[in-house]
Amino acid sequence: MAQTRKFAVFGNPIKHSKSPLIHAAFAEQFGHSLEYRAVRVELDGFERAVRGFFASGGSGLNVTVPFKTQASDLADIQSEHSRLAGAANFLVLDEQGRIAADNTDGLGLVRDMVVNQGWLLQGARILLLGAGGAARGVAGPLLQERPHSLFIANRTAHKAAQLAQEFGGLGDVRGGDISGIEERTFDIVINATSTGLSGETLSLAPALLNERSCCYDMVYGPEPTPFMRWAAQHAAWAVADGAGMLVEQAAESYFRWYGARPETAPVIRRVRDALG
Ligand code: ATR
Repeated sequence: MAQTRKFAVFGNPIKHSKSPLIHAAFAEQFGHSLEYRAVRVELDGFERAVRGFFASGGSGLNVTVPFKTQASDLADIQSEHSRLAGAANFLVLDEQGRIAADNTDGLGLVRDMVVNQGWLLQGARILLLGAGGAARGVAGPLLQERPHSLFIANRTAHKAAQLAQEFGGLGDVRGGDISGIEERTFDIVINATSTGLSGETLSLAPALLNERSCCYDMVYGPEPTPFMRWAAQHAAWAVADGAGMLVEQAAESYFRWYGARPETAPVIRRVRDALG
């Protein structure tokens, strides 16, 4: 029988993580023997926990809030995605025992939008709401899809301008104040602010949407977020939450660990069932 490989997701808080369920479902598809744990790591103990995990034979780690920046900082090797994002959600030991970091969040978002939802990113006018870690993690992969343009809008405008400058080499990227977005309508609007988690409402002009606009909230839960409700009320063509992104970013991790690409649709359904 094949040896059981050990994986984990490190975060704080971590209790509600769906990653163990997702990876167990992937392993079932291939008959892989895998142990995947959700581990709550002390806020000042991340690096120690990572090194301890690999020293004790761990095969690979996922990293979630609030450790993604630290994960990228402690790595010996960075992928292009984690370097651009300044954050990593994936760590693995390479053959020389070096810690290699990657970031699969943006790829997960793009895959969910393009493959699962059928949205066209190429040539699209994209509005990205937020300029924190979540927005930074997805800007690069969004731009690699060659949209017409990417407008990053944030409550604190200078952070959006800063992000736009950093990613400007990858396409037509602008940044500005969320309450004064100058472009009229967008094909794709992505909420990468933390309002989906806090339940706060963003104040957005309905004129941002047209009848073909697709709206995506990167968070997920049993109920639609305020942003999703806003989009539906203003007749967006399609509205989605981040459950698909969650499963797709996990599938990207799984692919890196096992070289096998799991089927995601049944696992997205299982995550939805588990959300209640
Ligand atoms: P994350 O890692 O989830 O991105 P973060 O780095 O703390 O978390 O960033 C949170 C993002 O949500 C920021 O863009 C923040 O805007 P500011 O930079 O102005 O703080 C945005 N955000 C949070 N609450 C918000 C609110 N009530 N209205 C608008 N934007 C909000």
